[in-house]
Amino acid sequence: MLEKIEQLIKEVNALKAASAEELESLRLKYLSKKGAINDLMADFRNVPAEQKREVGQKLNELKVMAQDKINSLKEAFEAQKAVDEKPDLTRTAYPVELGSRHPLNIVKNEIIEIFSRLGFVLADGPEVEDDWHVFSAMNFAEDHPARDMQDTFFVEAHPDIILRTHTSSVQSRVMEVTQPPIRIICPGRVYRNEAISYRAHCFFHQVEALYVDKNVSFTDLKQVLLSFAQQMFGPDTKIRLRPSYFPFTEPSAEMDISCNICGGKGCAFCKGTGWVEILGCGMVHPNVLELNGINSKEYTGFALGMGIERITNLKYQVKDLRMFSENDVRFLKEFEAAN
Ligand code: DAH
Repeated sequence: MLEKIEQLIKEVNALKAASAEELESLRLKYLSKKGAINDLMADFRNVPAEQKREVGQKLNELKVMAQDKINSLKEAFEAQKAVDEKPDLTRTAYPVELGSRHPLNIVKNEIIEIFSRLGFVLADGPEVEDDWHVFSAMNFAEDHPARDMQDTFFVEAHPDIILRTHTSSVQSRVMEVTQPPIRIICPGRVYRNEAISYRAHCFFHQVEALYVDKNVSFTDLKQVLLSFAQQMFGPDTKIRLRPSYFPFTEPSAEMDISCNICGGKGCAFCKGTGWVEILGCGMVHPNVLELNGINSKEYTGFALGMGIERITNLKYQVKDLRMFSENDVRFLKEFEAAN
């Protein structure tokens, strides 16, 4: 028996494995339940009593040695594997896919930047609003058609809670807690109950501006509008104001700019007129000031609101409004250069 053990010790000492599979079969051969070492253990009880001590020690030595040997072969394998798989630091990097900003955000930021330079600061308000801030505080009559279900999304079971139909609600949100001077710009999403098509969507984006102080005049409004139009669309841009009506401004106007697609000559976009409408504006109605806690004898103001999609279309000629919200990466990629 001793000889057998010595023989195995030599064998195990010389073990080599060329692959993980080979190593596993060696482990089975020597160390498993049916392996060579266990066979010897089973024979141990036949060893004469006076040899038990010596044989037992040798047997143990063999077992520990075999375990160590198999373990060290395994470790060597794993170390080799790590070396083989070490990343090649000299290979070129994977191309990192860069995202790009959404065109509406690009244009929104540009609008904010222009107004910031004129001293306007950012403000915002909730998209889920109450009737007061969207309509009543903005001087809409009780029976104004804009309050109609056809135009406005209502929150079910809460007839007073609606999705704001314009960012003008933020005017009220700011005035009710701030005394003049007020000079704010507020971009945001608005909702209208419209059938979705290439030129209408149930949600879109607006930017609202409001300036209230002593002696604010229509001349101030016009100068801000001209400055904005020329910074946004180029120094040769002309503006024209047409009388209009909004409940919250008096007088009210709509502003056209000379069509920046045809330069004012007339094209399909401006329907041959050379002009395109881009925003609504006016002097804040005294009722709006009073309804929101501002003394209309002391203060005057102007306000304006524009659709970001419209401005974006003018800058980038996006033909279908739905493209803005479909998240088609091919569309978004076209704006990488504008980032
Ligand atoms: N709220 C108007 C709309 O959604 C836009 C607007 C017009 C805003 C005139 C104003 C304004 O502040 O003075 O069509």
